[in-house]
Amino acid sequence: TRQPTKDDRFSFGLWTVGWPGGDPFGTPTRTVLDPWEYSDKLAELGAWGITFHDNDVFPFDASAEERKRITGRLKDATDQAGLVIEMVTTNTFTHPVFKDGGLTSNDRSVRRFGLAKIIQAVDLAAEMGASTFVMWGGREGAEYDSSKDLHAALARYKEGLDTVAGYIKSQGYGLRIGLEPKPNEPRGDIFLPTLGHALALIADLEHGDIVGLNPEVGHEQMANLNYTHGLAQALFSGKLFHIDLNGQSGLKYDQDLVFGHGNLLSAFFTVDLVENGFPASPDAPRYEGPKHFDYKPSRTEYTEGVWESAKANMSTYLMLAEKAKAFRADPQVKEAMEYSGVYDLATPTLAEGETVADLVAATADFDADEVAKRDYGFVRLHQLALEHLIG
Ligand code: GCO
Ligand code: MN
Ligand code: MN
Ligand code: MN
Repeated sequence: TRQPTKDDRFSFGLWTVGWPGGDPFGTPTRTVLDPWEYSDKLAELGAWGITFHDNDVFPFDASAEERKRITGRLKDATDQAGLVIEMVTTNTFTHPVFKDGGLTSNDRSVRRFGLAKIIQAVDLAAEMGASTFVMWGGREGAEYDSSKDLHAALARYKEGLDTVAGYIKSQGYGLRIGLEPKPNEPRGDIFLPTLGHALALIADLEHGDIVGLNPEVGHEQMANLNYTHGLAQALFSGKLFHIDLNGQSGLKYDQDLVFGHGNLLSAFFTVDLVENGFPASPDAPRYEGPKHFDYKPSRTEYTEGVWESAKANMSTYLMLAEKAKAFRADPQVKEAMEYSGVYDLATPTLAEGETVADLVAATADFDADEVAKRDYGFVRLHQLALEHLIG
């Protein structure tokens, strides 16, 4: 495959390549570099942008001067490397004060502190020129159903989101919020466990127009859901603001593998949707944002392995994009889609001006037994995809 370039708009979280490999059973296996060392190297590998949490860059207890110095230096380094800081987010999960959540802790003083921390990260995001502000509420949740008034928890979540979104508007920042659902880990049950739950809460917000989604591959798959379907519904609702690409092998802990290193066929159809859009709905919304990787270089890798894994994300994406283009351009695939009725689904079920009475009358003689004999050819179509992928 070709080398990635800035035109591909690949971006990486600093916490991805910067993860030193500590897990609940073992200490870190790698040393931590300065943020600009990661960004310089990512630029060299062909990335277009970076993203970070406030505390990926400066410590939780940093003074105002220290924050300014470190974030200023990172901004200079990324400007010099021609990198965009496309997204900034807040860490409201590492410090023990957030053990019961940031926006939904039972302790009001923690909620007030968490909200203030998020607001400060919004200012930082605007200052860094970011366009997306992700909110992953990893600690918003519970282990015990007895521990929370769940209605109040959702009310506080809503209050927090509206406060942040309202603040963004009041400051005139060009930022949009991307909520990132996850079913569990680190909490036993996380609030807003799926894209659908998040969409429902967004619809209830006062400032929901600037609040959308940041779906992550592994998180949907941890909930046994189909990532590509999730992206499609987010697009349908005009809410696909950002994406977190990675890999996951089934219902396990959050693996954060390299993109494609889990369910490869699913990754193929994700790239197919992002690159080529819906096959029969040319006017449907398309994802226009960055291709953002949120993965972890496995703990077994050292420096070489970190950079190899970063390259692997981009190269896998590019390989899949090439295959997906060829898949869509293949006349045999077009014919198979035709046979399968893929293009027919875009035709409205009712004719223009047709009434319900007309419909009932028109279908009176419908021969269900005859039509039930239809062969959809979905298996052949899917096998054609496989032939493009691995044939
Ligand atoms: C996870 C999450 C996090 C968030 C990140 C952004 O792996 O559980 O993806 O990595 O994406 O913290 O806030
Ligand atoms: Mn994850
Ligand atoms: Mn993520
Ligand atoms: Mn992640």
